[in-house]
Amino acid sequence: MKKSYSNILTFNRKTLGKTINYLKNGNVAALPTETVYGLGGNAYKESSVLKIFNLKGRPKSNPLIIHYYNLYDAINDIEINEYFLKLYKQFCPGPITFILNKKIHTKINHLASAKLKTVAVRFPKHKIIRSILKKIDFPLAMPSANKSENISPVCAEDVFDEFKNKVRIIMDGGKCKIGLESTVIDLTNIPEILRPGIINKNLIEKVLKLKFKKKAINKIVKSPGMMKKHYSPGIPVLINQKKHDEKSAFIYLGSRYQNKKKFFSLSKKSNLNEAASNLYKIFRIIKKKGYKKIQICKIPNKGSGIAINDRIKRASQTL
Ligand code: TXA
Ligand code: MG
Repeated sequence: MKKSYSNILTFNRKTLGKTINYLKNGNVAALPTETVYGLGGNAYKESSVLKIFNLKGRPKSNPLIIHYYNLYDAINDIEINEYFLKLYKQFCPGPITFILNKKIHTKINHLASAKLKTVAVRFPKHKIIRSILKKIDFPLAMPSANKSENISPVCAEDVFDEFKNKVRIIMDGGKCKIGLESTVIDLTNIPEILRPGIINKNLIEKVLKLKFKKKAINKIVKSPGMMKKHYSPGIPVLINQKKHDEKSAFIYLGSRYQNKKKFFSLSKKSNLNEAASNLYKIFRIIKKKGYKKIQICKIPNKGSGIAINDRIKRASQTL
């Protein structure tokens, strides 16, 4: 039976109104998006932004993504360009974040963007976050709803696992369809993917009619949040594994080890999108079951496999 938590709200007209008022009063709430759950607060208000950093234990040098309903709402805050317009038209609302220059008179609080000249903006697709963004007159600064360096939550209960009752409103939007964070692309210069996601480089190349330089992908330093130790399930993770070690949980693709204890398939059909959507959920299950170590088989480095490899590589950095 599903446990009930007093701070996890079922979405309806009444809870939507309550959440909107809560945000309007400067508070921070956990909200569902199509990628992962976020911790959202008024991006124009310093006290709300500070609450987010404090709850997450996030260094102030790591800027937040600002979430808008649509381009019209963002236009006074960001400098747009041709690349942005093409990608926006093709993929938004959707799981992609753009790094753009801020307008001089932007209302985005300077702490939210870590005092940089640039800002990360995103137009999420999940119907609940859209219904909230539509009804408020400020954008939401919203990092993933996990403690800094942990893995992102993909359902309301995961958020509760992270913050217990410290976050007073967790809006339940079910399991996130995508299950990995959005693609982050820097458009302030020649386009560069800073964080791979489900909207992958091939899809972006087609729309922009360009080819990314090889070294431009997976570049870690440009995005302050892409430190090596990140997305950690809190126990050692070993990647590119071939042989199962008795003491660990083994994550793989396909159905070879079906019904075998300690073996967890990311996707029975070896579908990489499905695998991406199950990764964080399986990490949490394994941790809860008390395993002390995770082994992961080799994941093909194509399509959504690139994003999976990025996250598991970071998760495998020694604790
Ligand atoms: O899917 C997502 O993007 C989720 C949902 C909630 O929208 N959000 C999310 O936010 O993953 P967060 O804060 O966990 O990750 C944001 C990433 C960080 O790596 C951060 O350093 C980077 O975006 N970022 C933010 N502003 C930036 C900037 N101005 N330049 C470069 N990187 C930036
Ligand atoms: Mg995060």
